[in-house]
Amino acid sequence: MLAINLLCVLLPALASAATLSPAIALENRFKQIHDEHHRNKTAAALSAPVDAPAVAKAPAVAATDEMTAFGDILKPEPSNPPNSNVIMTRNELLEGKCAPIIVIFARGTTEPGNVGDDVGPMFFDALMKLRPGKVMIQGVNNYKADIWGYLGGGSEEGAQDMANSVDRAAKQCPQSKIVMSGFSQGAQVTHKAAYKLKPDLHKFVGAIVLFGDPFKGDAFPGTLNNNVKTFCHDGDLICIGLPIPTPAHSNYEDDAPEAAAYVAARM
Ligand SMILES: *[C@@H]1O[C@H](CO)[C@@H](O)[C@H](O)[C@H]1NC(C)=O
Repeated sequence: MLAINLLCVLLPALASAATLSPAIALENRFKQIHDEHHRNKTAAALSAPVDAPAVAKAPAVAATDEMTAFGDILKPEPSNPPNSNVIMTRNELLEGKCAPIIVIFARGTTEPGNVGDDVGPMFFDALMKLRPGKVMIQGVNNYKADIWGYLGGGSEEGAQDMANSVDRAAKQCPQSKIVMSGFSQGAQVTHKAAYKLKPDLHKFVGAIVLFGDPFKGDAFPGTLNNNVKTFCHDGDLICIGLPIPTPAHSNYEDDAPEAAAYVAARM
């Protein structure tokens, strides 16, 4: 795999610049890009015309186990403050609910909660606007979204959890359609999860939507491959297998409306 070969060359360079272990330097780079993206958005919002429509503020959510466990192995620098305007942890399938559309989402490396604070929540909002009252969300749990998972081609535990959630959704809500989705390492997790599904579950999955996918273009098994949409920006080096986060990897919420339209057209 291109990414793995290039790691040997690129990571020592990153590390010597930062005098940190290569993996930690890379994890910090993911956080820096994420933080810078939020600072830029805040600055843009502050400089927007005063008559711009107000953005409704969602209630703050309590820190979850994942959020506190996140970074246990590596004490991360910088701090990666979450975007407090969105709900970052969603467990509606585990709460026993059903809805016609069930989105199972895996967040990107270093993102908080179980659905992250950028593209996931924006994608859900866009889909709920198109299908009001018909959408529920389950984040991927048992998934640290740390740098080791990304470097290993996507967390095994996360992939197993996503596959388990697809299985649960099919049993709990057999009339529903499932959307498997993820951003960055979450896209890797989605690819891996798809290969863990029993083929008789494929018919429940109506769409697969990937953002900033390191495995862009890799086929999904069986009929799953018929309804896959991948968003990859020009200049997003993660999408061509390079372990180099750039600003083009940080703004996939811009694609939320198109992603939602893709899903809505299929269910
Ligand atoms: C933030 O804005 C600066 C200035 O426009 C730009 O150079 C940088 O790439 C942006 N960073 C991100 C992560 O979007």
